[in-house]
Amino acid sequence: MLSLISPKIYRFDSLHSTNDSLKEMKIGSVVQEGAVVVTSEQTKGRGVTGSWESNPNENLTFSIYLEPMYLKVSESHFINYLVTYSLYQYVSLYTEDAMIKWPNDILILNKKVAGVLIENTFETKNVKSSIIGIGLNINQLHFSQFGRQATSLKSQTNKHFDLKKELDCFLEILLKNYASFQFSKDRFLAWYHERLYLKGVQSRFLIDETEVLATIKGVDAYGRLIMDMDESKEVKCFDLKEVKFLD
Ligand code: BTN
Repeated sequence: MLSLISPKIYRFDSLHSTNDSLKEMKIGSVVQEGAVVVTSEQTKGRGVTGSWESNPNENLTFSIYLEPMYLKVSESHFINYLVTYSLYQYVSLYTEDAMIKWPNDILILNKKVAGVLIENTFETKNVKSSIIGIGLNINQLHFSQFGRQATSLKSQTNKHFDLKKELDCFLEILLKNYASFQFSKDRFLAWYHERLYLKGVQSRFLIDETEVLATIKGVDAYGRLIMDMDESKEVKCFDLKEVKFLD
């Protein structure tokens, strides 16, 4: 029988960052696997490359604590496939236009609706713990424009959402997936690949400050992006900071 973890949700009105708060709570060893920290307002929300913008009370900003200790250090990027694919499934309840943008954004019609910031700790050769921070745009209608345009479920559907219900709904999807993840992590990689934004489509990227044309083939065993380079005809792999999407 697969065991399903029940989430224990800690709610706050305002925090700097739910990832940071969860880390601090864990130090006192209060927190068990499945703990979720959610805040109505995040004052110093962190993104993968900068800050995370989210109006108070309009979106979901939360972090989940998991202990997938069966994963080797070299397999830790599978946590990303599990979480990103679960977010994709959740967003797909409301739209057929969701895609996964490498490494861990969810887009609706090329606009970003969700982002993930995963912070793992390791013990000898295995993962010890994982703090999974998620920013999911739900009811916000206006966003500042830096880089890729952001969107929300409300902008896409013209419906207003109840944040508590949406958090429960997403957690149910994630924790159900997590129950089978240990035994079927390769399936999450396959599903991630199927929904990968711009896969197989010649597109524009910025690499070493130069605009290039290339085609995404997928992700490799280390979670890097594999691309067919248009000009040199080589196949190359890239880490997060080495490539910027221009499309
Ligand atoms: C990204 O850059 O796309 C990742 C954004 C992750 C934002 C979330 S909001 C909740 C959690 N706490 C943080 O400080 N960041 C993550």
